[in-house]
Amino acid sequence: MCGIIGVVGSSDTLSTLLEGLQRLEYRGYDSAGVALVRPGQTWRARAADGTQSVAALRLECEHAPSGFSSGIGHTRWATHGAPEAVNAHPHLDCSGNIAIIHNGIIENHSELQEQLESRGHVFTSVTDSEVLAHLIEEERAKGLELIDAVRQSLLIVRGAFALAVMDANEPDVIVAARRISPLVVGTSPGVTYLASDIPAILDKADVFYAVNDDEVVRLAPEGFRAVDLEGAPVRLHQLQIDWDLETAEKGGYDDFMTKEINEQPDALRATLLDRRHSDGTITFDELRISDQELREVKRVVLVAAGTSHHAAQVAKYAIERWASVSVEVDIASEYRYRDPIVEVGTLVIGVSQSGETIDTIMAIREAQRRGARVVAISNIVDSSLAREADAVIYTRAGLEVSVASTKAFVAQVAALELFALRLAQLRQTLAPSDIDALFQGLNAVSAQVAKTLTRRGDYESVAEQLLNTRDFFFLGRHVGFPTALEGALKLKELSYLHAEGYPAGELKHGPLALIEPGVVVVAITTDPNMHEKILSNLAEVKARGATVVAVATDDDEKIAAVADFVFRVPATEPMFTPMIDVVPLQIFAYAIARGLKHEIDRPRNLAKTVTVE
Ligand code: F6R
Repeated sequence: MCGIIGVVGSSDTLSTLLEGLQRLEYRGYDSAGVALVRPGQTWRARAADGTQSVAALRLECEHAPSGFSSGIGHTRWATHGAPEAVNAHPHLDCSGNIAIIHNGIIENHSELQEQLESRGHVFTSVTDSEVLAHLIEEERAKGLELIDAVRQSLLIVRGAFALAVMDANEPDVIVAARRISPLVVGTSPGVTYLASDIPAILDKADVFYAVNDDEVVRLAPEGFRAVDLEGAPVRLHQLQIDWDLETAEKGGYDDFMTKEINEQPDALRATLLDRRHSDGTITFDELRISDQELREVKRVVLVAAGTSHHAAQVAKYAIERWASVSVEVDIASEYRYRDPIVEVGTLVIGVSQSGETIDTIMAIREAQRRGARVVAISNIVDSSLAREADAVIYTRAGLEVSVASTKAFVAQVAALELFALRLAQLRQTLAPSDIDALFQGLNAVSAQVAKTLTRRGDYESVAEQLLNTRDFFFLGRHVGFPTALEGALKLKELSYLHAEGYPAGELKHGPLALIEPGVVVVAITTDPNMHEKILSNLAEVKARGATVVAVATDDDEKIAAVADFVFRVPATEPMFTPMIDVVPLQIFAYAIARGLKHEIDRPRNLAKTVTVE
């Protein structure tokens, strides 16, 4: 989720790039860099200074030479390689003339790097992106124009990219291309721009165009031309933009939460990219615990807080079912105060979006003190949790700004379920064909979430009708239970209403006493194995006057008989349902909070990251 910007034909290139990068910081900020190009000279500056990277880059640029009318800039959200200046973009080829910036993930970078090194190329960073500079260098050496050299290079890379390339031997040209990661082009008289997002160039360009997947664009001061990967001309679609800067930073949405809810398909796709070799082996590049150790794991303990704790609870079902390892899930703030038992073979997994939550960090320290091996699941590269753990798996949801976590949750569930499949593969507790089918299914969730998002209006209209409710119960069974907990947490945080998540089977053991007319029960009914049981639980609450809202699959014909309102979702393998079923619950909580006129991105009393106990 990096931010990229480029400009050709400008009289104030450097300030355009730096201002644009400042506005792109919400896409990532762990390092930043620019390259300016003129005939025969490429000048580059890079800086890594945590959240202050763009400010640090400004200092680096104070003594930049003048007279450059073209350049590219990048603000990074690390996926491969630590957030250090050496890994910051732009990356250069061996000659130092070609500069590239890249947002996305090059899946086959290891094999490409090996081939390039065997042909004498020298790499200077630990990123997947640098291969692009060297591939393009080879194509340029064949005498190809920059646009053709980029095209040829892209034919051999797999993965996601929005990239921009310059070459001091073809100055005043930028070649940009896109697959999956966003890219726009903007024009004004005599100056042409590109950016990952509109805010970076909103006040500079007059007309904006969207670049589609597998399109390559050659930008020059007088305008641009676009082709597909085969070189056939294509027309870019002109965008109607009537946003102000603030709306633009939120991707045109009213708030970051809506933007982040809508980014969930991308968060899932990015988290799952590059995780399986061609022989079917599931891999985590960042995982530094040996296969043998994982084979010998006897018990897994997951520690986390809040939404991350709910993702961890989903993982318990997946790891136990697929890998036959016993799993415990602990609230991070409780773990270290309860004399936890750590035996040989105990693997502790700390799950945290920020990787800075004090409770989770203290829990893994306690686990390590007692001799456990620790894996971190973190959304932030090189977070404290990631650094302190023995190994790390990064979710790649991108920067999450809204306090209420949304896309981080689905990415955590995907990463943890992938880890469960890896354990099953190593321990041979599932047949390879089952692992294959589950892996395919997991990859299909992104599209199912995208389909679910198109039904936003249906979910919002239910919220409008229930705006006066004061008490909500969220019920689920199996993985529907952590989903119910997450739905209740979202509603509490945003609407400040009473909302409780319960395992549906527990209802009769006490909470049923609270059910009366006016109470709303939201039930997760998407798991066919649990369907009958949960329907009878719903009949019980309905008989006591509750209003029932059901999250149900498209093909569920029985639900209408018990539910007053239905949130329809696409059906999937039961273990994957939390990633889909949570979507209507997020939208429901959001719509209730909007209806009650609450602040969305910063609910009262809450902080994005809890760093005090
Ligand atoms: C809920 C929410 C919090 C966090 C919790 C843990 O929407 O955002 O409950 O999930 O504070 O934060 P991380 O995952 O950063 O450790």
